[in-house]
Amino acid sequence: MTTTPATTQAPAGTVQDDTLLHAEDLVAGYLPGVNILNGCDLVVRPGELIGIIGPNGAGKSTLLKALFGLVTVRSGKVTLKGEDITNKRADSLVRRGVGFVPQNNNVFPSLTIEENLQMGSYQEPRRFAERFEAIVDLFPALGDRRRQRAGSLSGGERQMVAMARALMMEPSVLLLDEPSAGLSPVRQDETFLRTRKINRTGVSIIMVEQNARRCLQVCDRGYVLDQGRNAYTAPGRDLMNDPKVIELYLGTLATDVGSDG
Ligand SMILES: Nc1ncnc2c1ncn2[C@@H]1O[C@H](COP(=O)(O)OP(=O)(O)OP(=O)(O)O)[C@@H](O)[C@H]1O
Ligand SMILES: [Mg+2]
Repeated sequence: MTTTPATTQAPAGTVQDDTLLHAEDLVAGYLPGVNILNGCDLVVRPGELIGIIGPNGAGKSTLLKALFGLVTVRSGKVTLKGEDITNKRADSLVRRGVGFVPQNNNVFPSLTIEENLQMGSYQEPRRFAERFEAIVDLFPALGDRRRQRAGSLSGGERQMVAMARALMMEPSVLLLDEPSAGLSPVRQDETFLRTRKINRTGVSIIMVEQNARRCLQVCDRGYVLDQGRNAYTAPGRDLMNDPKVIELYLGTLATDVGSDG
């Protein structure tokens, strides 16, 4: 048997031998008879940073929840490294290398930073010290303030704790739901840089974002989700320059202003 040579360049976003996560034609919803996802497809290859943008209510959070076993998938399939993980429970997905940082309430405010990270490694407590060290290498501020309660941290710092907690089990793919939401522009920038930094350690990331322009700037590839379906996928910068995406999702500010002013 011969396999396809690794040098063959298939278009981005198509399924290949090394596809890490693949969602096919996902249909999911909360109430009987009402589908929120209506045939969603997603391909993540090792090391990719994927951005998902789209209007409020498009189903972006629902997609992440469906991937993480928090919303029942009614039809379609999710595979991780070729293994069917459709409708597996969140705890078993964490064991298989999926990490999730929800949009809201993503830290335990009454616990310290260190205790929050312990919660992240509860399935493998013996690895806590080793993982804590690796994460403090990545985000030194967390080590310095390990005994501070998460509830007393700023929004940006809390977001860092939530990401760190999800990294404790050394995921191969991390799902982030609007990491920059509610932060000031400077803190938003830090959050995008932090996301990139995590990605550079080899973790694939699926990031849902309201801040579409920033998201498309940092991601390798973006998906536009609308009414529970993804219209198309392309490299982030291509989407940013696509007149249809600009008109529908990015707004008129996409054109340069004041360039000769
Ligand atoms: N727990 C729930 N029960 C019933 N319907 C829900 C639930 N959560 C979300 N929905 C509905 O599903 C649809 C998609 O919601 P979802 O949160 O996935 O959108 P979103 O794209 O993440 O939006 P936003 O940008 O505002 O975060 C909405 O119409 C919402 O009202
Ligand atoms: Mg959402």
